[in-house]
Amino acid sequence: MLRLVLLISLTCLVKSDTDEECPSFTRLSFHSAVVGTGLNVRLMLYTQRNKTCAQVINSTALGNLNVTKKTTFIIHGFRPTGSPPVWMEDLVEGLLNVQDMNVVVVDWNRGATTVIYTHASSKTRKVALILKEFIDRMLAEGASLDNIYMIGVSLGAHISGFVGEMYAGQLGRITGLDPAGPLFNGRPPQERLDPSDAQFVDVIHSDTDALGYKEPLGNIDFYPNGGLDQPGCPKTILGGMKYFKCDHQMSVYLYLASLEEKCAITAYPCGSYRDYRNGKCINCGTPQTVSCPLLGYYADNWKDYLKDKEPPMTKAFFDTTEKNPFCVYHYFVDILSWSSNIRRGFITIKLRDKYGNITESKIDHEPATFQKYHQVSLLARFNQDLDTVAAISLVFSTGSIIGPKYTLRVLRIKLRSLAHPDRPQLCRYDLVLMENVETFFQPIQCPKLQI
Ligand SMILES: *[C@@H]1O[C@H](CO)[C@@H](O)[C@H](O)[C@H]1NC(C)=O
Ligand SMILES: *[C@@H]1O[C@H](CO)[C@@H](O)[C@H](O)[C@H]1NC(C)=O
Ligand SMILES: *[C@@H]1O[C@H](CO)[C@@H](O)[C@H](O)[C@H]1NC(C)=O
Ligand SMILES: *[C@@H]1O[C@H](CO)[C@@H](O)[C@H](O)[C@H]1NC(C)=O
Repeated sequence: MLRLVLLISLTCLVKSDTDEECPSFTRLSFHSAVVGTGLNVRLMLYTQRNKTCAQVINSTALGNLNVTKKTTFIIHGFRPTGSPPVWMEDLVEGLLNVQDMNVVVVDWNRGATTVIYTHASSKTRKVALILKEFIDRMLAEGASLDNIYMIGVSLGAHISGFVGEMYAGQLGRITGLDPAGPLFNGRPPQERLDPSDAQFVDVIHSDTDALGYKEPLGNIDFYPNGGLDQPGCPKTILGGMKYFKCDHQMSVYLYLASLEEKCAITAYPCGSYRDYRNGKCINCGTPQTVSCPLLGYYADNWKDYLKDKEPPMTKAFFDTTEKNPFCVYHYFVDILSWSSNIRRGFITIKLRDKYGNITESKIDHEPATFQKYHQVSLLARFNQDLDTVAAISLVFSTGSIIGPKYTLRVLRIKLRSLAHPDRPQLCRYDLVLMENVETFFQPIQCPKLQI
């Protein structure tokens, strides 16, 4: 008995010790979610001095927060199980790795934890008011609104919008990561995130058919893979819990990838995802000297370009691969055909380099129409960026299993890299593609001047 008491007091001691030294994000159980939780907002400050250990601060005690530096608030959303967000630590560290700033994690897990979404969403205004009180104190200490950046996930995106509205849009920047759709869809701008809430508002929409918000909410709205279903996420309920949140969370993982800087995810301003897939928006609608907008942390490189637009919204589309670092590499495949009859079908193209690396692109979102002496430009997306292409293979398919097999006669095929327009364009002349038969060839450099 004595030993048990000792053990309990010892564990309590150890626990309270670590609590004081390194406070962590509130961890609740599913039981709390079932009974519901009352709102309690904790602000946890991280700086470059210690990227993993937080200091709890509030509007009367700013702690080590240096008001002359940029301050980034991270605001999470609905927590139906009570657990801390799995991406939080990575996001804090990622931000501190790219810039010396204050990172404030807004832990409102008590409040967000409930199985009833409306209960969590009804607390968003209250959280915004608490943040307003805190920021007022920062301003009194000499901080500038220009230097305040809020990253809001799901419900957190709308909380950021509410805070921004109270400062009449003078906050430096808000990034909405798949802003919550349910209960917010179709609401007027004052009741959700909108472009007037900060000097620059960028949004990633990754689950527009379920938990996310479909319509644009910022100065620039990024729709990965069209914004609906994300590659690598389960498509059926057999995927378990992941099925419900994977698409939604992808917005956070894409943002995180932008901090890792392994490759830059480029997006293409465009009227629709379909137009992007059909290669209609690759020049970004800008002069050649302006590169296309980047997703994530560096999206504000485009701020000056967007700020005077009327209406203020710009939609941008791009595709991703299943896994980090998510970048796809675009090529244009120009096909000039000379089949006497019109052919409709799909092209699959494989590239191989001299080391044997192979990357494939299926251009199958809609059939292409090949007409005699007309050039069709198809946008191909590859997972790998091969420096030098040694061999190419093509498959033409009409998609029908029964019926006659067709051939596609190709007068010229040309491959142009979008990421590296400086690379030589690759050509091949006079090919006959038998339906569903893979045809290999070695490309040659296209002649400089072409008719
Ligand atoms: C951060 O703080 C924790 C707790 O005080 C400490 O154990 C850790 O060594 C610190 N890390 C750095 C890099 O200072
Ligand atoms: C703010 O934090 C300080 C130091 O941790 C604490 O003493 C104080 O009670 C807190 N104030 C409020 C309003 O929570
Ligand atoms: C706060 O940040 C500024 C600018 O980075 C720096 O010059 C100053 O020394 C910092 N103050 C403290 C107390 O660290
Ligand atoms: C291609 O293969 C080589 C050798 O196996 C490897 O080192 C290289 O990283 C690969 N390149 C790409 C772009 O995958």
